Amino acid sequence: TNGARSSHRLRHVSSLAAPPPSRLNAVVLGDALASEEHDLVIPKPDFSAQAHFPSPAKYLDLYKQSIEDPAGFWSDIASQFYWKQKWASPVYSENMDVREGRINIEWFKGGITNICYNCLDANIAAGNGEKIAIYWEGNELGADATLTYNQLLHKVCQLANYLKDIGVRKGDAVVIYQPMLMELPIAMLACARIGAVHSVVFAGFSSESLSQRIVDCKPKVVLTCNAVKRGPKVINLKDIVDAALAESAKNGTVVDVCLTYANESALTKESTKWVEGRDIWWQDILSKYPNSCDVEWVDAEDPLFLLYTSGSTGKPKGVLHTTGGYMVYTATTFKYAFDYKPSDVYWCTADCGWITGHSYVTYGPMLNGATVVVFEGAPNYPDSGRCWDIVDKYKVSIFYTAPTLFVTRYSRKSLRVLGSVGEPINPSAWRWFFNVVGDSRCPISDTWWQTETGGFLITPLPGAWPQKPGSATFPFFGVQPVIVDEKGAELEGECSGYLCVKSSWPGAFRTLYGDHERYETTYFSAFPGYYFSGDGCSRDKDGYHWLTGRVDDVINVSGHRIGTAEVESALVSHPQCAEAAVVGVEHEVKGQGIYAFVTLVEGVPYSDDLRKSLIMNVRKQIGAFAAPDKIHWAPGLPKTRSGKIMRRILRKIASRQLDELGDTSTLAEPGVVDQLIALADS
Ligand code: WT7
Repeated sequence: TNGARSSHRLRHVSSLAAPPPSRLNAVVLGDALASEEHDLVIPKPDFSAQAHFPSPAKYLDLYKQSIEDPAGFWSDIASQFYWKQKWASPVYSENMDVREGRINIEWFKGGITNICYNCLDANIAAGNGEKIAIYWEGNELGADATLTYNQLLHKVCQLANYLKDIGVRKGDAVVIYQPMLMELPIAMLACARIGAVHSVVFAGFSSESLSQRIVDCKPKVVLTCNAVKRGPKVINLKDIVDAALAESAKNGTVVDVCLTYANESALTKESTKWVEGRDIWWQDILSKYPNSCDVEWVDAEDPLFLLYTSGSTGKPKGVLHTTGGYMVYTATTFKYAFDYKPSDVYWCTADCGWITGHSYVTYGPMLNGATVVVFEGAPNYPDSGRCWDIVDKYKVSIFYTAPTLFVTRYSRKSLRVLGSVGEPINPSAWRWFFNVVGDSRCPISDTWWQTETGGFLITPLPGAWPQKPGSATFPFFGVQPVIVDEKGAELEGECSGYLCVKSSWPGAFRTLYGDHERYETTYFSAFPGYYFSGDGCSRDKDGYHWLTGRVDDVINVSGHRIGTAEVESALVSHPQCAEAAVVGVEHEVKGQGIYAFVTLVEGVPYSDDLRKSLIMNVRKQIGAFAAPDKIHWAPGLPKTRSGKIMRRILRKIASRQLDELGDTSTLAEPGVVDQLIALADS
């Protein structure tokens, strides 16, 4: 189960031949608007001519090589990074088959490196020290700042020295609960520099969620900020952290230090609540530390970070990524999927609290020495033109965002490549993004991936492929997507089923923190021999991939993954709630909305106040972004005789597809369906 690979794994590559344009209604980029009758959008020749991958043939060549000889393919790429010591042999080893024992994935083991060194020192050594690393744009118009690669290194080193000084060592966890200040990527890089394992918690999570994560990974220190303004609203982050730390202490995890950045534009130091002996002001202490710091050289398989994500059941999972493979993979996917060139200015609207911000705000771009825009604020503040003002102000050429954020007034001249992530993009939204935002000039990289995958798995390469609106197109190098039926049999040609991946890629996660067994059962047991993504997918006759959304009980709200079980348990913790069932429904803006069926404790009357207080429970326990859009009163829930809730029926009721309820005769009490329908709009 290592190195050598056999040729049978090349089987599906033959289906990747470029589609003959004659069979499809094609339009060349820039020649015309992509309209309904155009199902193929061909890259403009002058774009292709300058692209890393100018043609399908060039992609196919390298793709074949990457599948036939992954060790050789990825070694060549890895050699472009700085390694204190080269990796041992084999380049990788893996077992992704539960029937053959413990799931195990390793890349470049024995190689000694440091990802912070490769992001900063290596780029500075190459002569890019005075290049802008970060354009920071604050919430308020006119609030901005920049950091060159030299300046960024200095800031990272000061924090790294401080962390070492308070006893943070290689392998120790550090929790970061920060808004999108420059200090957030700085904190991530400082941890990486000293071999500490960062765990960024999105600053929209509630104190209870934060505490749950702190108790799970037990950090010595929490890095935070006193408050932040998002749009017109001030959010007091320090209060949330205080509550989380108090709660963690009750559960046996005492955090010694809370390093707090004073964001005085949102809240003064004087008005910030303070715990003497534990809380330290970031600016006061860091200026005392030297701005150079030796790196901690780590093994490629030493952990880099933990990032918690929702599953269909139980508590959040700590997805663990290691150093070497993640480094090589994020850098390479960034470079090719966005056709990145050193002159580009790149803006990804994601928050570093999510995987997109890890791989494609911080690591991927900085490994390439890119200039990155970091935006603190909200895309619609002070008005919906804000994003385009930012694009113009910094001459952004690569713009990467979620379909939810497709708001616009007009196209922007500086743009060259557009990216989309987080949810399936429907063809009409695709055409709109393409025609209006990109002026029918910019290729769109619809990147399919997950927290677990570390980087893009299925993505267009701008300039290489004719695009089909709404399709994420083809696999990245070294990635073998397979579509299987419910029995786990691989489907060939035109097909539709469950999206799995055969064999590992360098950016794959290695375990769930503290629970390798859950890792194996969640991802590798459903279809033995494969990694199961949890997504549905179809492949058309030309080999293009079309993602169709989650097939498990996970809802995707504005590109944020939320487990139905988490929302349900937050609702049920309300004393007047007896039972709850949550499903996703189509939502015009958010992709999916959260729709909750709630059964009350006997005798409790329905009321708007109760509705509000149920929603408040979810905001408190998870965060505002997980608040249900709709509470549907349910005298009872449709269950099978064995007591299993039939979500299929609930989904149909939620989306008002009442003529598609299907067979309800197997329900324990078929009458509940009519009761639910009667209460739909009450
Ligand atoms: C889930 C992963 C890593 C991206 C941010 C979300 C959905 C992601 C696409 C896409 C269709 C997509 C999937 C996936 N998703 N990108 N381009 N087309 N669906 O990361 O929170 O780990 O969620 O987001 O359903 O499983 P995440």
